[in-house]
Amino acid sequence: APRYPRYTREEVGRHRSPQDRVWVTHGTDVFDVTDFVELHPGGADKILLAAGGALEPFWALYAVHSQPHVLELLREYKVGELSPEEAPPAAAATGDPFTGDPPRHPGLRVNSQKPFNAEPPAELLAERFLTPNELFFTRNHLPVPAVDPGSYRLRVEGPGGRALSLSLPELRSRFPKHEVTATLQCAGNRRAEMSQVRPVKGLPWDIGAISTARWGGARLRDVLLHAGFEEQREGEWHVCFEGLDADAGGAPYGASIPYGRAVSPAADVLLAYEMNGEELPRDHGFPVRVVVPGVVGARSVKWLRRVAVSPAESPSHWQQNDYKGFSPCVDWDTVDYKTAPAIQELPVQSAITHPRPGAAVPAGELTVKGYAWSGGGRPVVRVDVSLDGGRTWRVARLAGEQPPPERAWAWVLWELRAPVAAGAELEIVCKAVDGSYNVQPDSHAPIWNLRGVLSNAWHRVRVSVRD
Ligand code: HEM
Ligand code: MTE
Repeated sequence: APRYPRYTREEVGRHRSPQDRVWVTHGTDVFDVTDFVELHPGGADKILLAAGGALEPFWALYAVHSQPHVLELLREYKVGELSPEEAPPAAAATGDPFTGDPPRHPGLRVNSQKPFNAEPPAELLAERFLTPNELFFTRNHLPVPAVDPGSYRLRVEGPGGRALSLSLPELRSRFPKHEVTATLQCAGNRRAEMSQVRPVKGLPWDIGAISTARWGGARLRDVLLHAGFEEQREGEWHVCFEGLDADAGGAPYGASIPYGRAVSPAADVLLAYEMNGEELPRDHGFPVRVVVPGVVGARSVKWLRRVAVSPAESPSHWQQNDYKGFSPCVDWDTVDYKTAPAIQELPVQSAITHPRPGAAVPAGELTVKGYAWSGGGRPVVRVDVSLDGGRTWRVARLAGEQPPPERAWAWVLWELRAPVAAGAELEIVCKAVDGSYNVQPDSHAPIWNLRGVLSNAWHRVRVSVRD
């Protein structure tokens, strides 16, 4: 058998364009597919999305690749093998707290490297109902903690219950495994559009701070009842979560949800240890994270170390002084975080994933695709699409199964096909309607806020039709 040179993932990641050569990996094999890019039946642009990294998450989106002839074709381009992963240098040795962060797919659209914040390429976002783990958006505020699963313990405590310290095997074996398909969306999704009205403070997310996975884990409810907490409580109570990631001053990431949601059997709140059938990836909270379906992503605390029942909301900065909405008239001189409630359930949202802004689409039949989702388990009942900036509308076809009533935790993918004439300039617009007949506002100006959160106006994409 031929001996191949060894390359690190980082070396492979430097080959991302025809000029620098286009390299990809499959399993532990490295391929130089530069000469195949223009021959690819799925288009050169698609292959380039995976350039520098693993093919598997992309091929998971397009089943056409799971045929023997595709692998045979790929084999001709083999140039090397991946060298075994080296342990990253200790943070103390480099002075960089982020050196221990996990490797990531170079195809992600990065909004900030340290801490790592990235979204999947928008055109792939809604190609499949479940987002592959490697492409799931990542929103980290701090370095990713390195957790030893053997010594990991989850503490559960608070007045009215007995304190628990659960190992990973205990969490897995003492409580039934419950599975929920839920979409997570960051409060800052689509912030880039809002900042075009006036600048806002925050990462410039495009439409991809949203993804969907099938989560598996113990119900938070089961764990709380096991600790002796009751099904209902008089007065105001909250369940606070703390992560193992901490800022320079030692304060952990934290958030809370109301007690009623935490113990409700219908709310499906999970202490998840699985994501799409695999153990949680490090970026998404290994070994255990909270998943609060229907609620802003910020409450789904990753790398969970502590669950505490408390008469007050989490004291964390991210519960008290961030992730809140304000009037367009509030600025950084006048903002008083105490005056607004913490965001929990998110408003109705939708976006167009295909075509992309500025695209030149062929004349004939145009297929417009996108996602729609609403908070609180409210189903999306309709998506309206306009090709002329909102003057006339058509109804998109919704894909996917009917969710159980009031537990529509996952997005719907939608599609509209319409004839388009050569030379036309289109302003494609989408807006969704949820089960409470909530609708999206038509523009961002009236919902502008200084942090750029809750950005859910009609999504508009301008394209031209080729002659
Ligand atoms: C189709 C190979 C990467 C998206 C195909 C087909 C082959 C192929 C042989 C035709 C299969 C058939 O019809 O029997 C490859 C190879 C790749 C690669 C060797 C990497 C070196 C990708 C990536 C994406 C992608 C990264 C997406 C991001 C598609 C799509 C089609 C396709 C959408 C269907 C095109 C159509 O039927 O209209 N690919 N592919 N491919 N590929 Fe890839
Ligand atoms: N949990 C911890 N411990 N640290 C964090 O930085 N980010 C939160 C939440 N949980 C965060 C966290 C935010 S703002 C969001 S939107 C989601 O995690 C993102 O989850 P994901 O990175 O798995 O997509």
